[in-house]
Amino acid sequence: MKITVIGLGYLGATHAVAMAKIGHQVIGLETNEEKLDSLRSGKAGFYEPGLDEALVEQLAAGRLTFQSKHDENTASAELHFICVGTPQNKGSDSANTSYLFSAVRDLAPILHKDALVVGKSTVPVGTAALLTEELNKLVDFDAQLAWNPEFLREGTALEDSLKPDRLVVGVNSQFAEAKLREVFASMISSGVPFIVTDIPTAELVKSAANAFLATKISFINSMAEIAEVSGANASALAEAIGYDERIGNKFLRNGVGFGGGCLPKDIRALTARAEELGVGQAVSYLKEIDQVNLRRRVRVIALLKSELGELSGKKVLVLGAAFKPDSDDIRDSPALDIALLAKKAGAEVIVHDPVSLPGVRSKHPELICVEDLHEAFSGVDAVVLATEWKQYRELDAKSIADTVSNRLVIDGRNVLNVKAWQQAGFKVLALGRTIEGN
Ligand code: UDX
Repeated sequence: MKITVIGLGYLGATHAVAMAKIGHQVIGLETNEEKLDSLRSGKAGFYEPGLDEALVEQLAAGRLTFQSKHDENTASAELHFICVGTPQNKGSDSANTSYLFSAVRDLAPILHKDALVVGKSTVPVGTAALLTEELNKLVDFDAQLAWNPEFLREGTALEDSLKPDRLVVGVNSQFAEAKLREVFASMISSGVPFIVTDIPTAELVKSAANAFLATKISFINSMAEIAEVSGANASALAEAIGYDERIGNKFLRNGVGFGGGCLPKDIRALTARAEELGVGQAVSYLKEIDQVNLRRRVRVIALLKSELGELSGKKVLVLGAAFKPDSDDIRDSPALDIALLAKKAGAEVIVHDPVSLPGVRSKHPELICVEDLHEAFSGVDAVVLATEWKQYRELDAKSIADTVSNRLVIDGRNVLNVKAWQQAGFKVLALGRTIEGN
């Protein structure tokens, strides 16, 4: 099927490649010329394992092309996926949906009546209805719009797009359902559950899924707060409750908490939308979920202070800046926030990350970025593990014991081999538990 993918950020670029990979003829649309040049040269422009290789493969196969504007080429597409961003509005918790409205306005002049418009962006429930209204003002037929939320995770984005654990489509016509069944035919026939709902449900599914995931993480982190003052161990607690299948052990890792371009923004946007709809109380707990999450970052600073006293004149190494491993995304990253909080508290802060340092350097020149991992430990008074990259988990503590000036490590993700670090002479502190044997 000939399709367009409008907006080539994380979601759009990955979706465009995935759709080409399953055999569709894909035209990617992006207004940012720099991004377009990068995509045409086979680079997605962000770190995502396997994506650039797949992009190069699909460009070479001729199934994927990129352009900045609609024309007769995009006019003949049967389906238009809208994948533009919906960032948090400045000074408010709500989501900015203006890029969606621009996308729809740009699309209207070339849209034909047999083409389906499919939103994939994460939106406040009710947005699709407003977009349809806008579209219908601009075309002289009944525009067909559907919603198909995307659940991809950074770091496994392409895999998640090609083998999603479910496809959710919100439709209001048989025509829309049939088109979506056709475009996802290969996935449906390979057994991916295909869930058909009304449009508001499909919009809400994505917000609900992310709110649930954020709640799970903050739940265990709230237990960590109790564990820290009672001598209990939140990691052992997570393991113990996780064996109950109704609870499950996934997304129960306690530590410095969640960040990134989705969970924080999406719980805030859901709260804002519920308030607009007059049912803010229904999700008022999400404000506390957000607060629990942010308090974990402050807890790390408190631990540093409890060991080092005032931080001014102290040198702190933060391992990791990305919000999670296998990503260079530093949006709302707990690791980066901890580095900034330590800096604000007066410390000299060294940051190491395998892939995200270029972004840190350009946004936060006040932080000292060091590329070489061993060099980063030089003369530091404390080490904070904030993103659980493999190279940190597997680090030989002995190899850096003589490089630091004070052997103190805070395990912000509960992933270090405590014994090995202690044997190398380090005092080990962690979130959510008291470490014996220091
Ligand atoms: C998330 C959703 O998982 C995905 O379905 C949606 O499409 C987009 O938002 P992503 O932002 O890529 O994906 O990251 P995810 O893997 O969900 O992790 C989010 C954050 O939670 C990370 O900062 C991670 O470190 C943290 N996390 C995750 C925990 O602190 N504990 C856990 O147990 C799991």
